[in-house]
Amino acid sequence: MQIVLCDDADHAAREAAKWVQALLVQKKRPVLGLATGTTPICLYQQLIRLYQQKQISFASCTTFNLDEYFDIAPEHPQSYRSFMQHQLFNHVDIDRQNTHLPVCFDGQNPRRVGLEYEQRIAAAGGIDLQILGIGSNGHIGFNEPTSSLASRTRLKTLTAQTLSDNSRLFVPGEIQPTMAMTMGIATIMDARYVLLIATGKAKAEAVRQMVCGPVSAYCPASILQMHEHAIVVLDKDAASLI
Ligand code: GLP
Repeated sequence: MQIVLCDDADHAAREAAKWVQALLVQKKRPVLGLATGTTPICLYQQLIRLYQQKQISFASCTTFNLDEYFDIAPEHPQSYRSFMQHQLFNHVDIDRQNTHLPVCFDGQNPRRVGLEYEQRIAAAGGIDLQILGIGSNGHIGFNEPTSSLASRTRLKTLTAQTLSDNSRLFVPGEIQPTMAMTMGIATIMDARYVLLIATGKAKAEAVRQMVCGPVSAYCPASILQMHEHAIVVLDKDAASLI
């Protein structure tokens, strides 16, 4: 695990952007794994800036998102598809056809969707660089504590902790999804590089368990200790307990 210590969230985003830039510049057909949540928004802003300065292009890039809420239409404003369009895709030269999320709604079979998502990733040649955030309970993607370390893309029920952490993103009265399709832990571990960004005090304990704790399904992010190329970009607050 390579730990990159940064002064603040902006600095962390700039450091993370360097890794994405290197991939986009060096690889002919880069395959990028993307994450949602508040943390990667700063990174996406950096990438949009680099694109506007003509330092990077997404024209030949394929992306796979970690997760998507279950039974939510892509056009829904709370879908992760909408999030990605607003935060990144609408602002760069990426071809929408090359952007993938594990969408499962309208009676689609979650098992089939999961299997097909894995097949699409394999057909693209695997993920070169997977961006990750971390939940305050140590989850990656929506692999909640006790998720199998050998898991693949599938349907997961969100924990009370995650629902409460994410409730800030929903207005009162709005229905908050309680299930999601997520890449599995083994899917994430297959990526050639993984880059986890954590910022803020609320992540400090999860970061401590990920970096200093035992490898355990109780802290899914701790499996990254076993990844050959794991980069962990932290601001001072997130790193305060290690
Ligand atoms: C969400 C996502 C994760 C994300 C995490 C932290 O529920 N499924 O991919 O890393 O929780 O989110 P945030 O960055 O908003 O703290």
